[in-house]
Parts: sequence; C-alpha cells; structure tokens
Amino acid sequence: MAQIVAPSILACDFGRLAEEVRAVAAAGADWMHVDVMDGSFVPNISIGPAVVAAVRRSTSLPLDVHLMIDEPDRHLEAFVEAGATSISVHAEATNRLWRTVQRIAELGAKPALALSPASPLELVMEVLDEVDMVLLMTVEPGFGGQRFLPSVLRKVARLREIVTERRLSTRIEVDGGVDQQTAGPAARAGADVFVAGTAIFGAEDYADAIDAIRRAAKGT
Ligand code: DX5
Ligand code: ZN
Repeated sequence: MAQIVAPSILACDFGRLAEEVRAVAAAGADWMHVDVMDGSFVPNISIGPAVVAAVRRSTSLPLDVHLMIDEPDRHLEAFVEAGATSISVHAEATNRLWRTVQRIAELGAKPALALSPASPLELVMEVLDEVDMVLLMTVEPGFGGQRFLPSVLRKVARLREIVTERRLSTRIEVDGGVDQQTAGPAARAGADVFVAGTAIFGAEDYADAIDAIRRAAKGT
C-alpha cells in the first residue's frame, strides 16, 4: 500500500485556514489530518465540527479526523456530517470500543483507533479486524511541536507483525514529532501513514517538506 503523508492543520495559520489547506494540498498532501481536542481528554482545546466543515469546503482530499475527546460517541455524527472521511477515537477515551467503531462505520466514515504512547496494543486487539487504521501517538497527545518518542517504534513493529500475521490491510499511522529524520525509522518499523504538523507548516516550502518526509519514509 502506498505511503500517505497527512499534514496536521493544528500547526497552520488558522487565520488563513482555507488558503493553508489549499497550499498543502497543492504541495502534495495525501490526506488532511484534523486534531480535535476537548480540554478534558487532553489539556488543550483546539477545534470542533464547524472547522472540520470549513476544511472540507477547501479540499477534496480525505479528512483524517483525530478525536482527542472524552465520550466520543456523543460527537461522531457531527464530525461525519462535517465531512470526516475517517475518524480516530482514542481507545482510552471510551469503554465501549466495539459500539463506537460500529457507529462510525454505520455513519459512513472509516473507523480508526488511536493509542497514546504508554497505552498497550492489547487495548485494540479485540476490534482490530473492524478498523481501517490504528493511530499510534509518538508524542503525548495534546500539543504540536513535541519531540518524537523513539520507544513507540517497538509498538509500531509489533503491530505491523500482528497485522501481517492476521492478513489484514490495517494502516498504521504515526502522529507526533514526525519529520524527515523520524519518518524513516517509523516506516522501517512498519508505519504507512505519516502525520506532520510543525515539520510541514513550519517549513518555508510545503512541497519540499512533504517530499522530504515521503522520501525518508520510502528510504530514498
Ligand atoms: C498532537 C496531535 C498531532 C500534532 C502533530 O496531539 O495529535 O497531530 O498536530 O504535530 P507535530 O507534527 O508538530 O508533532
Ligand atoms: Zn493528531
């Protein structure tokens, strides 16, 4: 499966949101990653469905919506209506994972599960066959611009083994501190979706930044 680069709009200039989205799309982004934070599951507050809808109006690229919120079930419909293509919920944020995943699929979006760095893979094992992707956080969720945690690479590698063993096509997404240095090791461990905020929006040339991550991930 092709590797995916997904710029995280958390690091963009929100005053020029539509322009920023169009710029990274033109620069070669495969998906747009949208970080939703509620000030409860994570300390920070970011954006809600209205902003997801604004991103949707600015691009036809898949919208990869990452919910860092408590009680995600209450908001799934609003995010799908706003235009989410896939929705990642944190396994730590709900004790009804099966139901949550089913609901996302019923609403017509692709279900995905997210795990914070210290959370074990066991949390998602029973529903692995039901999801399109597992998002492994490579920083503590809540803020952009943090340093990539190399210890998560072991978890990426273990998950890749399990996915291969079960003959699944589950994507493995890494999120947090991904740049042209860390994308290579993450890809070698088995990741195939690379979320990057600061490394792309903090760069002078978005196309060069996306290309550098893609080349690092391909090992070229
Ligand atoms: C962090 C978010 C990330 C964040 C990544 O909680 O899930 O998507 O925007 O930003 P960088 O690439 O700056 O670490
Ligand atoms: Zn994210």
